Amino acid sequence: MTAPLELTTQSLAQLGATAADVPRLFAELRAEFDRAAAGVTDEAGLEALRIAWLGRKSGILNAVADNWLKPAPTDLKRVVGPALNELRAHAESFLKERRYGAAAAEAAVKHEHLDLSLPGVQRALGSRHILRQTFDEIERIFLSLGFSVVAGPEIETPYYNFEALNIPEHHPARDTMDTLYLEMPKGVPGELLLRTHTSPMQIHTMERQQPPVRIIVPGKVYRRDNPDSTHSYMFHQVEGLAVDTDITFCDFKGTMEYFLREFFGPKIRTRLQPSYFPFTEPSADVYGSCFLCDGAGCRVCKFSGWIELLGAGMVDPAVYGFVNYDAKQLSGFAFGIGVDRMAILKYGINDIQLFFQNDVRFLQQFQ
Ligand code: DAH
Repeated sequence: MTAPLELTTQSLAQLGATAADVPRLFAELRAEFDRAAAGVTDEAGLEALRIAWLGRKSGILNAVADNWLKPAPTDLKRVVGPALNELRAHAESFLKERRYGAAAAEAAVKHEHLDLSLPGVQRALGSRHILRQTFDEIERIFLSLGFSVVAGPEIETPYYNFEALNIPEHHPARDTMDTLYLEMPKGVPGELLLRTHTSPMQIHTMERQQPPVRIIVPGKVYRRDNPDSTHSYMFHQVEGLAVDTDITFCDFKGTMEYFLREFFGPKIRTRLQPSYFPFTEPSADVYGSCFLCDGAGCRVCKFSGWIELLGAGMVDPAVYGFVNYDAKQLSGFAFGIGVDRMAILKYGINDIQLFFQNDVRFLQQFQ
């Protein structure tokens, strides 16, 4: 087949073309222009393209006008004219856009001294706080055991923080929690305090819900402690509570062991040591074998081989009395995990204050 450009040197009559052939002929010409345009890379190329196609004397579109349009009879002219105008507009708009783009790029390089070899601006991405990650890890483990996560208020009444947990006024257990009381507006009766532990949510939950209960309560707690490397006036706990008709001490112990193995790894051994909490009976401190010396004895475990990890126990029947649960039918266990302490032990952090200083050099280690 003849190349489309050569066709433009002959008239349509010479080519034996009718009105029906015109769209195809112009489509071929347009494709030819697009091919030539695609190879253009700079100003000089653009100018050469313009002269070849739109040049006044020897431009291709001029030849089309001279050979296809002018000698054609009127009815054929009516088809060729618009097709030629369309192709000319296509060529012109391409040249215009490219010229503009090339000129703008040239100006930018000239005036702005754009150095494309410089590295770009790097914006640091944030990361999740190590305490947030520790919460998530604890929640993941208990969710897999069928617990659900609930949240509760950080401002409590003494009833929920103490009395309903079997800690009456003047009970010595209150002394272990130096409590922050809120100043009440004049004339408003009662007392409010910042919760000293997440245990009040045990009461709120049992008041609202009939057994079976299986919840954990992640949250902030507050005590009047002076800040040092192991104390902070605000820290974090995850409370746990399971109540049902047939929960045994074995369920309690197995749950604690499972949690610690999942959290610290399969090597950990656990030990329960008798303890005292007013709202559990019996109560236990849960110990894990020292992750540093594996039980041999070292500075971290004070040469005992064991590290105290959390407080727990079987729910004291007296607590059921406060929420109208039938203590004869029900049994359960509760536990309180110190989240900051868990993170400190798991990641070998030596100062609780690091959690609250927002020093990215510290936080970035846990991305
Ligand atoms: N609420 C206790 C505290 O902050 C921790 C605790 C101990 C919670 C034993 C419990 C538990 O649920 O059974 O010191």
